[in-house]
Amino acid sequence: MSVFTSLAEEHALLLRVIGRLERGAVDPDPRAADRETRNTLLVLLRALEAHERLEHLVFDEAPAMSTPDGERARRLIEGQHFVLTRLREEARDLLAQKPDGDGVALRAAAVRLARLLRLHFTDEERKLWPTFNAVAGRSTLHRLSRQASVQLRLMTREIDLYWAAINDYMTGDR
Ligand SMILES: [Fe+2]
Ligand SMILES: [Fe+2]
Repeated sequence: MSVFTSLAEEHALLLRVIGRLERGAVDPDPRAADRETRNTLLVLLRALEAHERLEHLVFDEAPAMSTPDGERARRLIEGQHFVLTRLREEARDLLAQKPDGDGVALRAAAVRLARLLRLHFTDEERKLWPTFNAVAGRSTLHRLSRQASVQLRLMTREIDLYWAAINDYMTGDR
């Protein structure tokens, strides 16, 4: 499986978590919305850390993008990573605080994060990865592919375990 297939599968996995976050954040019951947003954000933030670590590993090894389009794509994605890092920090800070009653600030941050992530994944898949794929050497791609598929398996298992733990908690089956 190529490194980009694994990264795309991670995106698909993360998008399912993002969908759940978006649905939870607009639950008409404010307490349910707050609880679901908190739980889902914890899962998302953790999985995102692993995903971004792998992406940095991939792109830190990237040869210089030799075309103006490649450089433009790289700068665009770097800018998005910068904004995403700050948004994740903001979400983490809000999670660490005591709930502010109805969790409005946390839900707003979650919705912003979800929106930017959707855009970011599309830009990576359409603009950055094809360029990198075209310029990276075969041995680099091969090594990264192995690392990416191991991480994908771990992430899939970790998210499944997390959902199971949350669902047990919700149903009182502890
Ligand atoms: Fe990214
Ligand atoms: Fe990504």
